[in-house]
Amino acid sequence: MGQYHDMQHNLTQKHILLGVTGGIAAYKSVELVRRLRESGAEVRVVMTAAAQEFITPLTLQAVSGQRVYTTLLDSENEFAMGHIELARWAEFILIAPATADFLAKLAYGHANDLLSTICLATTAQIIVAPAMNQQMWNARSTQENYQRLQSWGVRFFGPGHGLQACGEQGLGRMLEPLELVSCLQTLFQRGTLEGHSVLITAGPTREALDPIRFISNRSSGRMGYAVAEAAQLLGAQVTLISGPVCLTVPLNVDTISVSTAQEMRDAVISHIHQTAIFIACAAVADYRPVHPVDHKLKKQTEFLEIILERTPDILSEVAQLSNPPFTVGFAAETHDLAHYARDKLLRKNLDLIAANQVGLPGTGFESAENALKVIWKTGEIDLPRCAKPLLAKQLLNLIVEHYFQSSKFNRLQPS
Ligand code: CTP
Repeated sequence: MGQYHDMQHNLTQKHILLGVTGGIAAYKSVELVRRLRESGAEVRVVMTAAAQEFITPLTLQAVSGQRVYTTLLDSENEFAMGHIELARWAEFILIAPATADFLAKLAYGHANDLLSTICLATTAQIIVAPAMNQQMWNARSTQENYQRLQSWGVRFFGPGHGLQACGEQGLGRMLEPLELVSCLQTLFQRGTLEGHSVLITAGPTREALDPIRFISNRSSGRMGYAVAEAAQLLGAQVTLISGPVCLTVPLNVDTISVSTAQEMRDAVISHIHQTAIFIACAAVADYRPVHPVDHKLKKQTEFLEIILERTPDILSEVAQLSNPPFTVGFAAETHDLAHYARDKLLRKNLDLIAANQVGLPGTGFESAENALKVIWKTGEIDLPRCAKPLLAKQLLNLIVEHYFQSSKFNRLQPS
């Protein structure tokens, strides 16, 4: 419990360089600086010329309590703290808001203003909080820059979904200051799950009818992969047991590929004894053909009857072990979400369940975003709609909080 609460103040004395670029969301930088300082961080602000069209350096100087840096070739600033010193001073560079133009600059190594130069000159982790119109975010060039930067290890917080300043609705909104601070805190929680093993199932399963055809579902595996990445970021030793998906394997995660529910069950059971936390994100097929055939089924009759049987319920089997890990399930429901999810939590004897409403446009299976209702025996909380990686981090934070409070964690501690 103490370990969890320590995480709340873990920005103490961290050196955060906040880069503000020219978007309407620049006005949120004032609150962002205040929130970062409340969390104990030391903040220095660098503004681009365009940012100063939206907010003055004086305002950010007042809230940061520090000189604000605006130009590359300013003898006075260079004397006080030049771009190289700023690049060295920073432990994290948070660019919020980050415009499409600034993403392009970063992706192509430009160094024609103070902020882009610092980004080139630093070894600090660069974090980007994009803010732009949804068409600009979805533009091919922006998406390619996004992929390119991510592949170099630049982190993205957001963008979020919602109503934009231009009146359009979509992905591109900068995350709220509090959300950004909570994402940063997650980064600093790196060691929270150090020494704890987390086993995750993800993706769909395929149940063969014949060598060519199978029964499966629409799961993309994105949520499970995002959960695996979030757990790995917290320092956990992560094993991911994945059904067939088209996703890149997360870094530093042991990934085992399976196809059927039976293979997934066997892989889970063979790893479960070393597991502290089990998270069942997979959309396991509930039924499989009783008699798959070893040759292609030919269309001979007008009707075809296939008899299906239940597949093993992996989550229930794990929760019923004599010494189960902290066990988290998922529930996808079209209606009465909270009612069915709570019923599943109790029936399957889970510690926590993450429920999502399916059938809503833009969320759930196959989509990049989701919203969750997280339920445990004595309470529940809504995690509003956002990109799956961010949602996964928030879910992991809740799992960690409940895990450290549970007898399952205490049981593992040396007396
Ligand atoms: N699950 C599992 N093994 C199965 C089926 C489901 O581990 N054979 C896990 C999923 O990974 C998910 C949870 O159980 O965490 C979903 O529960 P389930 O009761 O299968 O949900 P539904 O399939 O939606 O059930 P129902 O159709 O009864 O609502």
